[in-house]
Amino acid sequence: MDAFAGTGEVSTARQKNKRQTEMFDPETYREAKAVIEGSTRIALNIKPSFDSYTFIELNKKKINELKEKLHGHQQFDRVKFRQGDANSEVIEFCKTLGSKDRAVVFLDPFGSQVKWSTVAAIAETEKIDLWYLFPSGGGIYRQISKDGKVHFTHEDAITRIVGTEDWKTEFIKRHESRDLFDNFTITLEKTVDPKSAAEFMKKRMRTVFKGKVGDFSIPLGKHAYPTFHLLFASSNPSKNAIALANKLSQAAIQATDNNYGRPI
Ligand SMILES: C[S@@+](CC[C@H](N)C(=O)[O-])C[C@H]1O[C@@H](n2cnc3c(N)ncnc32)[C@H](O)[C@@H]1O
Repeated sequence: MDAFAGTGEVSTARQKNKRQTEMFDPETYREAKAVIEGSTRIALNIKPSFDSYTFIELNKKKINELKEKLHGHQQFDRVKFRQGDANSEVIEFCKTLGSKDRAVVFLDPFGSQVKWSTVAAIAETEKIDLWYLFPSGGGIYRQISKDGKVHFTHEDAITRIVGTEDWKTEFIKRHESRDLFDNFTITLEKTVDPKSAAEFMKKRMRTVFKGKVGDFSIPLGKHAYPTFHLLFASSNPSKNAIALANKLSQAAIQATDNNYGRPI
């Protein structure tokens, strides 16, 4: 299941340079127009193939575009396209899994769309491997100002994605002091960065996933501070599944060390 399926293509265009590149430099223009394969096609091309695929997308135009783009692919008849909210669709999907079914779910939100309850429902199935592009930078780090202030709407959003209010003490340090005149002051300081936000989420995931939560977190994003960290969790508690997940974890750490996981 790809729960934030998109249109089948990801554009790498840098809009702000578009006019300039169109006028002057054909090489940069080609680069600015580049598109890369979306996650759905990557999933469809995996060998051996899956028995079925479910692609979810909230936006009607996008899901229609996706259908059109994938039409004619060898695996097309195995794909269920669903227009809807990823959270409710994933929860419904979890309920449909029979005892022999196994699945992989990929969550690639724009920001803070994935609710903790969705992650917990996946864990509860004991049948799903989850790959989650967790919004460690965009959804958390950049929502807290240096002086520890968070707009109340962002406060709710952070609680919704991590499923607890404990982040408030973990991400923001409170300093209490008294001056010479005995005036009491409290100052706040942001102590979180995207990496520690991802570590916090991994700790949270370990409370519900009975299999293995990957030891790695792969940073992704164009900025000095990554926007996302790729996390992995396997809900299957069987010994074999955990052994496989451990192997995968090692491979992912190696890939990160080899710099494949560098910020892009
Ligand atoms: C980062 S893009 C996904 C890109 C895609 N994985 C790919 O590689 O091509 C996120 C997509 O999620 C869709 N989206 C946003 N909110 C959603 C929601 N609540 N449920 C399902 N899809 C949603 C957006 O329209 C957008 O196409």
